[in-house]
Amino acid sequence: MIAIGSDHGGYRLKGEITAWLKENNIPYIEFGCMDGASIDYPIVAKEVCERVTSGAADQAILICGTGIGISIAANKFNGIRAALCTDTYMAKYTRLHNDANVLCMGGRVLGPGSAIEIVETFLNTGFEGGRHQRRIDMIADIEKDN
Ligand code: RB5
Repeated sequence: MIAIGSDHGGYRLKGEITAWLKENNIPYIEFGCMDGASIDYPIVAKEVCERVTSGAADQAILICGTGIGISIAANKFNGIRAALCTDTYMAKYTRLHNDANVLCMGGRVLGPGSAIEIVETFLNTGFEGGRHQRRIDMIADIEKDN
């Protein structure tokens, strides 16, 4: 299950991505802006990240205008590794090396074609483990200490 949410800055791109998820029979639950009206991105980050940390969703996609604000908010949640990606290389390596569980993108930065390729790469790439697991454990230790 994928949780997907956006503020107003990511509303249009969220629609393109949910259409693609539907076409590809990938189950999702949708949060945030549903009509273009303004909504504060930290609210959306909270709703979506809680689905991931509770296990209700396996992974998530968050979109705001730049992708920056919503990724900053998402990374405040313990257990969330949110990655702002602007190309497929970043999407591939954040899964392989960071085991990112939230993909963040900018609705005012990316067109639908590149965004969908980024989503596809993110969802279809697994975590490499090994030395990268040690580094993720170190991130979890930072969370515990703060
Ligand atoms: C909203 O105008 C905009 O600030 C937001 O979508 C995002 O880009 C923040 O980082």
